[in-house]
Amino acid sequence: MPLSEAKQRLKEGDVVAIPTETVYGLAADIENEKGIKRVFEVKERPFFDPLIVHVDSIEKAKSLTTDWTEIHAALALKCWPGPLTLIAPKIHTLNPLITSGLTDVGLRCPRHQLTLELLKDFHGLAAPSANKFGKTSPTSAEHVRAEFGDSVLILDGGPCDVGIESTVAAVTRAGSRWKLVVYRPGFYTAATLHDILEDQGLPTETGYAESPVAPGQLEHHYMPSIPVIVGEKIPQEEVIESSQKKLKKTFSKIAHLELGNDPVLEARMFYQQLRDLSPGHDAILVMVNEKQRKDENWRALMNRLYKAASFRA
Ligand code: TXA
Ligand code: MG
Repeated sequence: MPLSEAKQRLKEGDVVAIPTETVYGLAADIENEKGIKRVFEVKERPFFDPLIVHVDSIEKAKSLTTDWTEIHAALALKCWPGPLTLIAPKIHTLNPLITSGLTDVGLRCPRHQLTLELLKDFHGLAAPSANKFGKTSPTSAEHVRAEFGDSVLILDGGPCDVGIESTVAAVTRAGSRWKLVVYRPGFYTAATLHDILEDQGLPTETGYAESPVAPGQLEHHYMPSIPVIVGEKIPQEEVIESSQKKLKKTFSKIAHLELGNDPVLEARMFYQQLRDLSPGHDAILVMVNEKQRKDENWRALMNRLYKAASFRA
């Protein structure tokens, strides 16, 4: 039984790849230090990059923080299980390796039946995306297998529905008022989170910012095995042609990734496409238009694309 085997391995201090609606995670029991260390080792992840703790209920999330505000409660109620990670002050007994020594922890309840079932037997599972550090996140069990071979037990839950990592948001106080800061854009935009809070009688200032403390927001991340190039579509055709000519001098087999009109569908397929286009090519060119660069609904995908890119054409 894969689920009971997964449970046993985790209890013994091993890591297990788990499905979520965003991307596959490489999980360890938060109460087993051996497992937590193994996550960093298997991923080749630096210890300064904190892990998200996954739980199956709001109650468990609350029990891991000393300050579960009305903002946390309102967002968790509406968005969980789902692709939202909420930052909150950690309880002192939570292993500091998980938070890279930070006093805050990222908490999230994922929307995947198998993983929710598994989580019942744990206080929480710490899980980063199940890829080597800096590389493209896995959106299927095959992707995890391609990354780690048979050394990691995988709970196969099929392809991921959302396809890019969760929105990471922190609650801060601005005087007597709340403020919500999105550190990593995802399926939930700042505008959507603002509306959710307003609907619950909690009008809150919301916005985007790089995390001041978590260096997870490195400039290069999510990179496939060959360079990704972002080409910015501009009205003058000649300029595009000339920059493409220059590219052709450097690369001989450029794959073209066309983005459609729906940011949700494009996010779902994005990492899969980067992987599919890598064999047989020496670069991937992704052309983006002005709407995609500026519209908030494209923000999460543009964030991943620009970080995956080696340069701009
Ligand atoms: O959708 C997801 O969030 C996936 C699935 C597996 O749940 N997980 C994921 O984990 O993307 P990871 O490790 O690849 O990215 C976690 C990022 C960190 O790099 C950091 O930027 C942020 O979340 N984070 C985690 N804990 C934090 C904290 N205490 N303070 C600030 N940012 C934090
Ligand atoms: Mg990651």
